[in-house]
Amino acid sequence: MSQNRLQDFSMLDPIVSSNPFDFYALLHREAPVYKIPETGTYVITKYQDLKQVLKDYKSFSNDVKVADQSPFPGLHQSVLREGGGWEHVQTLQRTDPPKHDRYRALVDRVFSIRRVRAMIPHLENVVNDLIDKFIDNGECDFSKQFAMAMPGIIVAEQLGLEHNKVSTFKKWADAMLGASYSPTATAAEIRRDAKTELEAQKFLADVFEDRRVNPREDLISAMVNAYIDDERPLDINELQNVVRQLITGGFETTQSAINHGMWVLIRMPELVAQLRADTSLVKPFVEEVLRWESPVQFLMRQATRDVKISDTLIPAGALVMVGYGPANRDGEKFVCPHEFDLRRKNVGAHLAFGSGPHFCPGALLARQEMASSFEAIIRRMDNFQLLKPLPCPVHKFSMFFMPMHEFCIKFDKC
Ligand code: HEM
Repeated sequence: MSQNRLQDFSMLDPIVSSNPFDFYALLHREAPVYKIPETGTYVITKYQDLKQVLKDYKSFSNDVKVADQSPFPGLHQSVLREGGGWEHVQTLQRTDPPKHDRYRALVDRVFSIRRVRAMIPHLENVVNDLIDKFIDNGECDFSKQFAMAMPGIIVAEQLGLEHNKVSTFKKWADAMLGASYSPTATAAEIRRDAKTELEAQKFLADVFEDRRVNPREDLISAMVNAYIDDERPLDINELQNVVRQLITGGFETTQSAINHGMWVLIRMPELVAQLRADTSLVKPFVEEVLRWESPVQFLMRQATRDVKISDTLIPAGALVMVGYGPANRDGEKFVCPHEFDLRRKNVGAHLAFGSGPHFCPGALLARQEMASSFEAIIRRMDNFQLLKPLPCPVHKFSMFFMPMHEFCIKFDKC
């Protein structure tokens, strides 16, 4: 490790992006604010620096002008336009306060503590129904049959789209986060993903119309009928964009968190007995999973003026990757940061859900989904093992997330 040099690593290397933790340790020592040689993008890796950047929305804007990182800028949008869909506009995650406040107020109404607490019995039913489907087989495709299905069902229900198949919903979410955000995508891949998003947009447009006339107790009804502070209602482009963020924001992230939690139990089997002996440890387990292999490793900001962070000048206009993943492995914040430790004093102080105005509105829900999942998993199953070795690299290439290629497991029934 000590003889490794920065130039031996590339963030565009799928092996590095799948297992980036040695690279992060090197960055913390040698380049806490790192400029990616291939792209000129600045990367924030230290915990305190990240908190400062996330709070300072005037210097580090979410209204990122070069969000389309594909080699074919504008292609995705033109497929949407020509197919009679809705081009992307900047809402919620892509806006700064005060514009952000209005979108955020709408979403916060739905993910309150009261609502999430009231959902607990339902979450437990969903978890147990999913486990019932595979428990007698002693094996399952955990990623598909559990980690993807669980958040998929819940987000679909919250939005009021529960009659949709989770696999359709997942296909939409993958396409929405897909090729247009990959620097290595081909034109054919971008066209394919844009067409899938078009299919989702047309379905959603019908739902918006329906809920305008027949409102229900769901998020889409709340949004189509929202008239906050006598302002105009959200228009269809804004609605499409906010719903797109809820679908993508709540799906891949929670699936990844649940997958990585199970993978921890496979790699550290002694934890299973500890959690079973004291179920109050499930909460710190969930927090440590989120810190250790954070589902969102990076997102983007754009500097609006020259700013110095940790002695590095970030010039106005520069693209900045905010590193939740590396900050959560910062040894100045977390003692022995690379160890998975349920009993660490500041368990839960991680930045896996961000910080500042864009702090994840789904954090309470995601934490509860994970807790309900692992409580049932350790009560009903034991002796978790991989059904077959994981591929190398374990994760699909992504500059931002940690999606596993596949994750099939075997286990004993308790
Ligand atoms: C383990 C699961 C999750 C993780 C790790 C996660 C992570 C994050 C992070 C890091 C941000 C901050 C973005 C920024 O700084 O710009 C964020 C924002 C967001 N998340 Fe989550 N998230 C999770 C689950 C969810 C769920 C369940 C939902 C909704 C159903 C959701 C919806 C959103 C939305 C809409 C935003 C944008 C908020 C804004 O810009 O004000 N997330 N999430």
